[in-house]
Formats: sequence, C-alpha cells, structure tokens
Amino acid sequence: MDPHSLTDSVLASFDLGDTRRNQVISALIRHLHDFAREVSLSHAEWRAGLQFLTDAAAITDATRNEFSLISDVLGLSSLVDLMGSAPDATPGSVLGPFHVHGAPHCPNGADLQGAQPGQATLLQVELLSTTGTPIAAEVDFWQNAANGLYAQQDPEQPPHNLRCRVLTGPDGQLRLRTVLPQPYGIPGDGPVSQLMRLAGRSCMRPAHFHLIVAAPGHRTLVTELFLQGDRYLDTDAVFGVRPALIVPAVEVSDPAEAARQGMPCPFLRVACTLHLATTSSTSEPAPAP
Ligand code: BEZ
Ligand code: FE
Repeated sequence: MDPHSLTDSVLASFDLGDTRRNQVISALIRHLHDFAREVSLSHAEWRAGLQFLTDAAAITDATRNEFSLISDVLGLSSLVDLMGSAPDATPGSVLGPFHVHGAPHCPNGADLQGAQPGQATLLQVELLSTTGTPIAAEVDFWQNAANGLYAQQDPEQPPHNLRCRVLTGPDGQLRLRTVLPQPYGIPGDGPVSQLMRLAGRSCMRPAHFHLIVAAPGHRTLVTELFLQGDRYLDTDAVFGVRPALIVPAVEVSDPAEAARQGMPCPFLRVACTLHLATTSSTSEPAPAP
C-alpha cells in the first residue's frame, strides 16, 4: 500500500447508506489525506494535532464548547453561514456559544435594561421579506452587558439578563430598550486561545447584538448586528462581520423625542432593516438552532 492507494482503500471502506452522507465523508477523507500529503505531515505534527483536539475535548462541557470555537476562529462557521445565506436576504452570522434555548417571552417594546448600568439604547428592527413585505416573526435576542459579559459568564447577572423572545406584529417592527453591547474576548483559557496567540491574532470580537428571526414561510435568519465605528470590526476573531450588518448607534438628545419613546435623555438609537428570504428561494434553509 502506498499513500495514494491507502486513500482509495479508506474511501472504499465507507458506505454510510445515503448519497449525501457518502458525498460528505468521501470529500472529507480525500481532503484530509491530500492535506497530509501536501504538507508531508510528520508523526510528531500528527500527534500535536490530536493533542490539540484532546485538549479541546477536555475543556468542553455542557456550557462551553471549544470545538465550535475551533470552527469559529478557522472561519468555518462563517463560511457555512455565508453559503447558507440567500443572495437578496440579510446575511447570516455566527450563532456563538451564548445562545440559550427557552429565553423568556417579552412583549414587543420591553425594557431589558431595567436598573443595570450601560448606555440606554433603543433597538428598532424592521423585518421585511426580500420583496419588501413586513413580516410577523419570533425574534430570539441576546447580547452582553455593560461589563462585556454574557449572563452565563457572570454570577452577578440574573440568568436571562439581556435575552428574550419577542413576537412582532404584522408590521414587522421590533422594538427593545436595552444597553449598548460591548466588545468581547473569546474564552482565553483553552487551546484555541493558545493558537490565536501563536498566530498573533486578537481574541476580540466587536460589540454585537444577536438575533434569530423565525417566521412561517421564511428561512430562519441567525445573525448579528455590529456597531459602526467599533475598533474590532476589521479583526473579528470569528469573522462574523459583514458590511450589511454594521449599523450606526445615533445619540438622541432631544428631550421630547426621548419622552415620546419612553427613553431617558440622551439615549442611543440603533435602527435597521433585516430582509428574510422565503423558504421557496434557492438552496437549503439554515435549520433553526
Ligand atoms: C460571541 O458571539 O460572543 C462569540 C461567538 C463565537 C465565539 C465566541 C463568542
Ligand atoms: Fe456574542
């Protein structure tokens, strides 16, 4: 057996009983073997790679997944998001590790800030189909707090702080009072952060809101909104930024407008429009997480 006939033997040994599965596993084997041949992978390098994965497994638990972080910093998550985004629709962006199922239902217009510190922010999102029709949708929303931490990273925050699910009306208008999210460093205690240090890469992510927008007849959109001017927009550790997802946070200092909006004065307004593709559009919809 030589390095090439070995690949053929491995390919022939797999039949997963399904055309698509067979396509995926065959391509994976071919690319893995081509990779090892291309770099003439040594035994020591192969063992180092396995050790990296072993270290990732050791630090992974129900609340912390180092494997999804590997996918994120290698750009694989973003590649899958981009391939799954419909051409005329708002692009998808990384789900990240801080989404939780079962966030509390809140009325549209809810105040997520309450008494916590942070710059008061009015988030106004218009949900339209790619043909411009307003969409009634369920929006799952989450973000980090003024100290840069998500609720599950910070015992000082209530478990569902700054996360909720909201139903919009048929006008497709989502409205939330919240705080300005903060730039955030991906976890710095695992093998991924060692790799980032070795590569001289920043572990920072620009500040962002997370949204999952689900509406009947439309492809579920898993995306993020970033703030114009954020210093980490060009170096996002997980490659999540797309131009269409960068929105301004505009200071409103007119007391009459603040009163009309039920906001303190001054406040920040983040307003944008998201376009959802219909389920009949090309390529497979991203399944809801
Ligand atoms: C985040 O959205 O916070 C995140 C995304 C990917 C990796 C780590 C964090
Ligand atoms: Fe995040």
